[in-house]
Amino acid sequence: MGLLNLLLSLSLVFGATVFCQYEGEEFEDEFEDELDNEYPAVFRLIPSVDYTIPYPAISAKCAKECFCPPAFPASMYCDHRKLQTIPSIPSHIQQLYLQYNEIEAVPPESFVNATALREINLDHNKIKSDKIENGVFAKLSNLVQLHLEHNLLEEIPFPLPRGIERLILGFNKISRISAKALKGLENVTMLDLCNNHLSDSEIKGKDFSNMQSLMQINLCGNKLQTMPPELPFSLMYISLENNSISFIPDNYFQKFPKIIALRMSYNNLHEVPYSAFNLPNLVELNLGHNKLQQVFYIPRSLQHLYLEDNDIEVINITLLCPSIDPLNLNHLTYIRVDQNKLTAPISTYAFFCFPHIRSIYYGEQKISADQQTQLRTPVFQRYLTAEEYDEAEENHEAEENLEEQDQDHRGRDEDYFDAYLY
Ligand SMILES: *[C@@H]1O[C@H](CO)[C@@H](O)[C@H](O)[C@H]1NC(C)=O
Ligand SMILES: *[C@@H]1O[C@H](CO)[C@@H](O)[C@H](O)[C@H]1NC(C)=O
Ligand SMILES: *[C@@H]1O[C@H](CO)[C@@H](O)[C@H](O)[C@H]1NC(C)=O
Ligand SMILES: *[C@@H]1O[C@H](CO)[C@@H](O)[C@H](O)[C@H]1NC(C)=O
Repeated sequence: MGLLNLLLSLSLVFGATVFCQYEGEEFEDEFEDELDNEYPAVFRLIPSVDYTIPYPAISAKCAKECFCPPAFPASMYCDHRKLQTIPSIPSHIQQLYLQYNEIEAVPPESFVNATALREINLDHNKIKSDKIENGVFAKLSNLVQLHLEHNLLEEIPFPLPRGIERLILGFNKISRISAKALKGLENVTMLDLCNNHLSDSEIKGKDFSNMQSLMQINLCGNKLQTMPPELPFSLMYISLENNSISFIPDNYFQKFPKIIALRMSYNNLHEVPYSAFNLPNLVELNLGHNKLQQVFYIPRSLQHLYLEDNDIEVINITLLCPSIDPLNLNHLTYIRVDQNKLTAPISTYAFFCFPHIRSIYYGEQKISADQQTQLRTPVFQRYLTAEEYDEAEENHEAEENLEEQDQDHRGRDEDYFDAYLY
């Protein structure tokens, strides 16, 4: 049951991106879905409504540029309208959608009356940091989610309301983090800074560790060469892919025992400490597109291991799995090892160590720089026992595994932690 739950959670976490991206669903909702399938999807998407205000009074109030659906009177839709300024926001509005406009500034009067706001989406605009009035967001004491991705920000906006939970700042030009910006953000669970211009020197000495609720940090697509120091203990998801990180210090992850997923593909790792990933909750580990030559210890909890496009010649099972505990079997189900330098399939001893293995993806191997070769079996798929098959059917897990492989072939442009989960 625990294993199934984890698998299911993982598929929700990484599989349901499109759904939540556009519906503004929250993390909790996904688990509700799992627990309670009786409610039709639409009920879960209704934003919370302030019923204390009589319905006719509020339906009349909506900025003329925008649309306030009668069924969702606390939401105001002003997206995709070529707006250059922020419209006047009635005081009962809780969700404000301003994405895909041409807004360049957030002036002081923007949200003066809009104290009920819980969520602001300003992504895909042209906002620069110095055009955000100092303190303009800080007064919004109910704000929990702020989207500012795909703008022209140079730094993390601050001050922000102390209750903010999700801060989405990907695809900007952020190269500076003021020490003040991170102060008092104790309730932030999700911080997305992917695809910015952050380098080691900006991250160093900045105390992320006081973000005591932080579960997910996305720093992919920056200019990091070393692992970020001072991250909080609470982290469960770390995204660092597409940087230039070349080493992982000994015991680095021991500071974050709650980690479930770690993504470090497209870096410059030649080796990792043998026990670096000995983490009791780790389920997904992605180290594809590095320069690794040797495998390392993997914990019992790990289910998905990505090692494609490295320089591995032999997958030494004794290293991956130094001992077998029949009462605590390893959970690994999927390994991806294409584009390495393998000349032979993984030893069959692997199936004793990893009895749950479903698929090993060998794909093509690079024997020399200009020569690609294929092992006799590019994909190893284990036939499932009748019992396992039923289980997989129930959970649509078999399908998901296939999809996962397909996706990997389609390129990984959008493939960083979904910014909308927490
Ligand atoms: C805020 O509300 C006051 C009083 O209702 C109104 O006069 C003012 O124009 C509003 N300001 C904005 C920016 O909406
Ligand atoms: C932070 O979250 C906790 C628990 O949800 C809540 O009680 C507290 O009021 C929040 N802090 C702020 C400043 O909103
Ligand atoms: C990595 O980042 C560069 C620019 O920073 C981008 O052009 C490239 O598409 C990214 N690659 C991946 C695999 O995300
Ligand atoms: C695998 O690693 C173990 C431990 O380092 C070593 O003793 C063994 O010779 C290795 N096996 C192969 C096939 O390289």
